[in-house]
Amino acid sequence: MPKKTIKDIELRGKRVFTRVDFNVPRAQDGSISDDTKIRAALPTISYLLQHGAAVILASHLGRPKGQVQENLRLRAVAERLEQLLGQKVIYVRAVTGPEVTQAAQELQPGRVLLLENVRFHPGETKNDPELAKEYAALADLFVSDAFGTAHRAHASNVGIAAYLPAVAGFLMEKEINNLSRTLHNPQKPVVAIVGGSKTADKIGVLTNFLRLADTILLGGGMANTFLAAKSYQLGKSLVEKEQLQQAAAVMKAAEKHGVRLCLPVDVTVAFGLHEAAGACNVNVDAVPADMMVVDIGEETRKLFAAYIRGAGTVIWNGPLGVFETDAFARGTIAVAQAVAASAAFSIIGGGDVVAAVEKAGVANNISHLSTGGGATLEFWEGKELPGIAVIQDL
Ligand code: 3PG
Repeated sequence: MPKKTIKDIELRGKRVFTRVDFNVPRAQDGSISDDTKIRAALPTISYLLQHGAAVILASHLGRPKGQVQENLRLRAVAERLEQLLGQKVIYVRAVTGPEVTQAAQELQPGRVLLLENVRFHPGETKNDPELAKEYAALADLFVSDAFGTAHRAHASNVGIAAYLPAVAGFLMEKEINNLSRTLHNPQKPVVAIVGGSKTADKIGVLTNFLRLADTILLGGGMANTFLAAKSYQLGKSLVEKEQLQQAAAVMKAAEKHGVRLCLPVDVTVAFGLHEAAGACNVNVDAVPADMMVVDIGEETRKLFAAYIRGAGTVIWNGPLGVFETDAFARGTIAVAQAVAASAAFSIIGGGDVVAAVEKAGVANNISHLSTGGGATLEFWEGKELPGIAVIQDL
C-alpha cells in the first residue's frame, strides 16, 4: 500500500523526530568500519534540512538491553554524520530528560540534533507508551526511515506514531518499493538464492519463495541439512538433525508447486570451518568422513550462474559458504559476480551477503542492496512489518 512520505507533508518550521538505523558495524577499537547505513539516511536528512525542518535523529546501536554501555554511545556516529553532512550535528548524551528537551526546544530549522542510543532506555524495546510520548513531545512530526528496524515494534519507531503523524523517509520508501517489486508481479523467471547456516531462520522465507520463485538455489550450512535429508553422507559437516523433516517437507512442496529447488552438486570440503589447508572440491556423494562442507563447489557455481543468467528477477539472502574465511568465500563471490553480470532486477538483503558483494567489487551492479537484515527477511516472508504499518497511507 502506498505510504505518505516527507514529500507529501509541509516541513517548514517543523520539528521532526526522525528514526534512522545507524546500527553500523564497528571495528574492535569502536570505530565505524562501514558507514553505509549512515550514508543511506543522508537523502532524507538533507531533504528535511533543505525544506526548513529542525531534525531530531534517533537510532539504536547494538543491543545494550536498557543499560548505558559506554562502547555503544553514538558519539562516533555523530562525528561521521557531521563529516558526511558537512554541518554541525548537536549530540546529547541522553535519550530523554531535561537536557534532551532543552536541546530539542532550542533546535533551529536547518539544524540537526542526535539523541543518545535509544536502547540505553529500558522502555525502548518494550515499546513503552510513556517513553513514546516523551519522544513525541519533542517534535511535530515523525519520520520513519529506519527500514532495518521495521520488523521491531519499539517506542522510537512504532510507539511514537500513536502520538504524531508518521510519514516515510526516502530510504524507507526505496526499500518498500524495491522489495515490493519482488513480491508483486516480479519479472519472470524469479531466481531466489538462499544461504546461511540455520535452516530454522529461513523456513518462513523459503515457504514464501515457493509461491514466488521459479528456481531456488540453496547453499550455505543449511544446504547440508537438505542434502542430509536426501540421505547424503556429509562427514563432519554441520547438519541440523531437528530440521531434517522440515527440509524434506520443503523439497516435497517445491515439487508440488513446480519450483526447481537446486542443491549443490559439488562442494568445497575442509578439515575445519576456518582451516584452508587441505581443502578440496568433491561431489556431494564423496564427502570424506573426516571433512566438512564449507562452500559450494566449482560445478555448482557454474550451474547457479547459468540459472542467474536467464533470470528476470534475482532475490538473495544468506552467504553460500563460510565466507568470513577468504578461501571459503569463493562460492558466494562467484555467485555475486553472476548476479552483477545478469540483466535481472536484483535485490540482496542481509549484512553478510552485502559485505560479500562489496568484497567482490560488484555492489554497483546490483539493483538494490537492502539495508535490512531481519527486516528484509520478514518482508520476504510476507509479514506486515510494524515499523511500516504505522506510516500513514497515501
Ligand atoms: C540490523 O542491523 O539488522 C538492524 O539495525 C536491527 O538490529 P536488531 O536486530 O538489533 O534489532
